[in-house]
Amino acid sequence: MSLLEDVKRIAEKATGWKRPDDPQALLRRRKPRAYRFKDDGLIPNHPRWPLLIYKSVVRLPDSLDPAAVFEELFESNRWGDGWRDGIYDYVHYHSRIHEVHGIARGSGKVQFGGPKGRIVTLKAGDVAILPAGKGHECLEASDHFLVVGAYPSTGTYDECTSMKDRKKALTSIPKTAPPRRDPVYGKDGPLLRASRIIAGATSPPRAPASLVVFDYLDNFIEVRIDVVRHLVKPAPFPPEFRRLMGGVQEIAILPLDVVHDPPAIEAAMKTDRDKTGLPRHETCALCH
Ligand SMILES: [Fe+2]
Repeated sequence: MSLLEDVKRIAEKATGWKRPDDPQALLRRRKPRAYRFKDDGLIPNHPRWPLLIYKSVVRLPDSLDPAAVFEELFESNRWGDGWRDGIYDYVHYHSRIHEVHGIARGSGKVQFGGPKGRIVTLKAGDVAILPAGKGHECLEASDHFLVVGAYPSTGTYDECTSMKDRKKALTSIPKTAPPRRDPVYGKDGPLLRASRIIAGATSPPRAPASLVVFDYLDNFIEVRIDVVRHLVKPAPFPPEFRRLMGGVQEIAILPLDVVHDPPAIEAAMKTDRDKTGLPRHETCALCH
């Protein structure tokens, strides 16, 4: 099927036949379902970011090739290196890149998170966004089950399946840069709102600073600050600051529209105090 689909894709790209002019016009507004998985000893999963699934998020009219709809949609949001195929029927993950699956045809039962993970039925029109490290395997699929996969521009493809992959993967997964655009909603989706801030915060810090990580879940974003210890250690900060910032600091769960507003985050951080009344956060990391 993959070869036939590859031929179709080349022909459609050359002619524009059955490809959408405006893939954004085919979107429905959907909140993502978020699933978190722990390291199960074989599959690391991602230490912070959840698997996101948008159900029935894309309309697939008969006049268009459904695979071409997903390709155009993902490419419009700069997720490329696309393929048309199924999902491997053995558990695997990618340790240096995130992956998106758009279901173009049929339905399949896919287990995410490893052998002890969650089985989700994906149907035509659904999208799954898999952060690096998320285990996935197809357990069952209907006839003609067809998936379009794609990748953000940051990261390099690899495929991990066994214990021998773990050591390197445990290092590379948390280092994989966040995507700069949501593969579905681009700049306007919940992932994008978080990503825009992530992109700024994870660029090389100009001063000893925090690595700010935003997790997203429906209407809320959990804001965490993980201090990069080796950056903080040589910093000319007072000892109490170093002590306070020596571990993960959970500061708040904020409504999405607040998180979208960096000054509001900074204001919240400035007023957030620990039991002793000392400020718990150094706010300059959010200024760039
Ligand atoms: Fe994959």
